[in-house]
Amino acid sequence: MTTAAVENLMRAEIVRMTPYIPIKPFPVLSAELGIPIHRIVKLDANENPYGPSPLVYQALANLGNTEVPIYPDPGSTELRQKLAEKLGVEMEMVVTGAGADELIEVLFKLFFSPGDVMINCPPTFGMYTFLGQIYGVKEIVIERDANFQIDLDAVEAAVIQHRAKMVILCAPNNPDGLYLTPGTLERLLKLNTIVLLDEAYVAFTKPNLEAEFGTDNSTRLVAQHPNLVVLRTFSKWAGLAGLRVGYGAATPEVAGYMMAIKQPYNINVAAEAAARASLDDLPRLNTNVQKMLAERERMYAELAQCSSLRALPGSQANFILVEVLNQPAAHLKAELAKRGILVRYFAKKGLDNHFRISVGTPEQTNQLVAALKELA
Ligand SMILES: Cc1ncc(COP(=O)(O)O)c(C=O)c1O
Repeated sequence: MTTAAVENLMRAEIVRMTPYIPIKPFPVLSAELGIPIHRIVKLDANENPYGPSPLVYQALANLGNTEVPIYPDPGSTELRQKLAEKLGVEMEMVVTGAGADELIEVLFKLFFSPGDVMINCPPTFGMYTFLGQIYGVKEIVIERDANFQIDLDAVEAAVIQHRAKMVILCAPNNPDGLYLTPGTLERLLKLNTIVLLDEAYVAFTKPNLEAEFGTDNSTRLVAQHPNLVVLRTFSKWAGLAGLRVGYGAATPEVAGYMMAIKQPYNINVAAEAAARASLDDLPRLNTNVQKMLAERERMYAELAQCSSLRALPGSQANFILVEVLNQPAAHLKAELAKRGILVRYFAKKGLDNHFRISVGTPEQTNQLVAALKELA
């Protein structure tokens, strides 16, 4: 058989689809840029510059023959129990996945047959469109306005007109960092549709991990709203992006289906141990989050000094969206990369001439700002 004939056997929508462009890891970047890893200022993927809790490395070192050669607990019971306690919900309402990414996919598997409709509000996280293509979902796009706000009337009308099965809300939204305006969630929850609330960055919206685990955290809304699913991640506030742990909350029924159809051993033993250790060290992880919040504000102040850049105000996440006023953003991004400073550029509608800068350490901000003063 020829390769073309093999491709003919594949699902046409997969062959046609636009691939997701993932971030490159340090060794690849280092080889491409010809810059040693320790000199790269990686501000392109909203990772945690302080890394995980030291308890994570201890937990990983303590893994032995009763864990590593044995399949992990498919129910991730201990981790879900601990999460349930911290969140203030029932364990049956908590789901865990190999990153929030896996949980988004599990929801797509659970709710969408080919041709079903989802409402997406770009510019936003690219994973929704990517998975929509894979699952044959019809994506109705309601663009955000020039201030990156959701057109709530249009979303509501589209849900009704297209009998959409799901509305996707990313809050704080990647790439602008803005949370939902008050009343948005409540209004959409009244509709006959699933509301996927992706709160990957919610830990950065209030001090002291209050939004992640405090008494008002949005996972608690699930008990009153059976159509709400909240997704979160350990990748950002807990610094575990490389180990891939996400979690979510839904009604026990929805959560039960999600747990039933996910890959059985999705949370590997290292990931589960690391996530549990993180939950045992919240005060220290909170200190890192607080440092990132302070650094976000300092970065705003520094960016305000560059007249050829306009930072979008109001980010509640660990990144800032920046508009470049005097040259193509792609050019400035490339010039920064030559100096080992990586920011995220999106060649996408609504983001022309923007890039997104993750909050790093004070030292990383200093390097970024020095380079921008020279280049921008
Ligand atoms: C909005 C949003 N949701 C989900 C994710 C995925 O997180 P995870 O690393 O847990 O898969 C990201 C990652 O950057 C994100 O930006």
